[in-house]
Amino acid sequence: MKTAIYPGSFDPMTLGHLDVIERAASMFDTLTVSVLNNKAKSPLFSVEERVKILQEATGHLSNVHVDSFSGLLIDYCKEKDVHIVIRGLRAVTDFEYELQVAQTNRMLSHGDVDTLFLTTSLEYAYLSSSSVKEIAAFGGDIRQCVPEFMVQRVYDKFKRGE
Ligand code: PNS
Repeated sequence: MKTAIYPGSFDPMTLGHLDVIERAASMFDTLTVSVLNNKAKSPLFSVEERVKILQEATGHLSNVHVDSFSGLLIDYCKEKDVHIVIRGLRAVTDFEYELQVAQTNRMLSHGDVDTLFLTTSLEYAYLSSSSVKEIAAFGGDIRQCVPEFMVQRVYDKFKRGE
């Protein structure tokens, strides 16, 4: 069985993430999309909400499972007995950071965990979770950034007095 893990913050998931998920899912027998539970950050969506959103967005992909993890990615890979990590690369600006993380993970896992990069489809190359949050915070149009079912949920996070 060829399996891989696609880890990330997914706060929130974007169409760029979904594009990577769909393409990776077609290359592996199973793909686990896993949300990092990072206690140090104060996210827009809780881990549970992000998992639920990812489950809804990937409902059409029968070989995709959604999970969450905390701690080191390589420990999670070991626990799941998975040796391949998927990451998306949008532009050269992503490369330096991603290269460093991939090499660190390879070193920490003694060569047991490799990272495969998928270049983001051009139409999503500009997209990031941070820009989606910023656009939504100022009431801008995010319909080209996230799946339709997520649009109102993102706006709702910025409603005041709730
Ligand atoms: O969507 P993101 O925020 O770019 O995802 C980053 C993520 C979750 C892949 C990365 O931060 C991660 O794997 N964190 C877990 C901690 C870890 O293993 N760090 C060691 C690598 S330096």
